[in-house]
Amino acid sequence: MRIAVLNGPNLNLLGTREPEIYGTTTLRDIESRLRQVASVLGVTLEFGQWNGEGELIDAVQRLYGRCEGAVINAGAYTHTSLALRDAFAAVRVPFVEVHLSNIFAREPERRHSVLAAEAVGMVCGLGAYGYELALRGLVARLAPQ
Ligand code: DQA
Repeated sequence: MRIAVLNGPNLNLLGTREPEIYGTTTLRDIESRLRQVASVLGVTLEFGQWNGEGELIDAVQRLYGRCEGAVINAGAYTHTSLALRDAFAAVRVPFVEVHLSNIFAREPERRHSVLAAEAVGMVCGLGAYGYELALRGLVARLAPQ
């Protein structure tokens, strides 16, 4: 099973970006932990991070026929991008949404996700560990034991 882990804008700065909100774990650290989890789960991962909305949409379109599922932290596009949700609806690739912070405990404009209605589920507020939970939850949903 092949799963994509997609990250949106500013997540390349994890580690130094507002550490009081997002922690000090880097995206590279997250990816290496996910590789360990993936080898236990017996799944293959691919990773990508894009700052541009169009690039992120292109990445979702490329999932079609190649990946069985995706874990995505769409960053601020979570709150704004109907186009990103439409891309997932178009390719019909199941995804779990992840956020490091608890978006529901933040500013009002962050308390809504336009992606969530299409998602298998959402993990938020658990920091970098949320990526691992999202991957495990997605794989359990795709290949129930
Ligand atoms: C985020 C939350 C978003 O509101 C924000 O724009 C991000 C990161 C998170 O992981 O908590 O870039 O998705």
